[in-house]
Amino acid sequence: MSAGVHTLTVRVPSRPETAYEVRIGVGLLGGILAELRQGWVGSRLFVVSDGNVRRHGHLATLLGHEPAGTFVIDPPGEGSKTLRTVEAIVSHLERERYGRDTLLVALGGGVVGDVAGFAAAIFKRGIPCIQVPTTTVAQADSAIGGKVGVDSDLSKNAYGAFSHPLRVYIDVATLATLDERHYRAGLIESVKHALIADAGYFDYLDAHLDMILARDEAALLRLAERNVAIKGDVVFRDPEESNLRRVLNFGHTIGHAVESASGYALHHGEAVAIGIVGACLIAERLGLARVEVRLRVVALLRRLGVPVSLPPGVSDEQLLDLMTRDKKARGGTPRFVLLEAIGRVHCPGGQYAIAVPENMLLSALGDLR
Ligand code: GLY
Repeated sequence: MSAGVHTLTVRVPSRPETAYEVRIGVGLLGGILAELRQGWVGSRLFVVSDGNVRRHGHLATLLGHEPAGTFVIDPPGEGSKTLRTVEAIVSHLERERYGRDTLLVALGGGVVGDVAGFAAAIFKRGIPCIQVPTTTVAQADSAIGGKVGVDSDLSKNAYGAFSHPLRVYIDVATLATLDERHYRAGLIESVKHALIADAGYFDYLDAHLDMILARDEAALLRLAERNVAIKGDVVFRDPEESNLRRVLNFGHTIGHAVESASGYALHHGEAVAIGIVGACLIAERLGLARVEVRLRVVALLRRLGVPVSLPPGVSDEQLLDLMTRDKKARGGTPRFVLLEAIGRVHCPGGQYAIAVPENMLLSALGDLR
């Protein structure tokens, strides 16, 4: 499996033993279980996936002729990101007498990674998890960095933990089967990484968007490498989000509120695209960033085919209420990650998320309509 595989290492300073490799390549799936068997001799492999991934044939490719237990989350999607699914996985493991010698492999998108990662974090006080993300959002973001968890009836990720994977495999060939809307929405996390950390990466996205939308494998490998390098560096410097890691929430204060207010009719990335434009408008009003920043960002987002304005029927009151519940909020005041320029985050007094006067926020929301 080594030919053409690029390996990056994500380090976690507080726990040096949890540094983990991210293997990036094309057509990796079929060799992963054999490689895990060799690397962790004597472990029992157990794969968690979902109905979509199975339907597209990725689960069969991963399993090959390797003996491994499986659990398929069905129906796929956010509605299954619950404690009930975690309980079903744990019950299955117990019934089949899996122990602490289990390696749990999460094959799928963000929901599979979050649910399986959380089940692994709590089963018998924690077993190792291998993340094998198969969507643009999971490959760019959720499979890296150790955030795992499930939703409650009231909010997203109400139950969760920081639990770093043992290894991550990014096989960009799996993106070939992703539906167009999810594919495009997940690319927003790559745009986010470029905006917070790397102007050159933004130029690359801008110049190569047609190749990226055509799912050119060389372009997708380049994206995977930049995403892992940028996110890995942020996670290394602030693994449990005491400050810097908040930059990964750029666009998410308004984004999460819009996603929720839309009743999840908007995909996460689509809502974050709107939130990114909102954050650019706020930065402009505060005199932090030039209008050209927003114009370049909006032009790229339009070419990506994601929304850049609020959907009808979502009120300011609703959004303000939801934003005060955002995890970055303090004392009921929402806080925002803001750009000074493409690739540079505003950081007054060493703080990466800042409060914004309500009148300015309302005026930005007005311009988002
Ligand atoms: N998705 C944001 C983070 O991992 O911190």
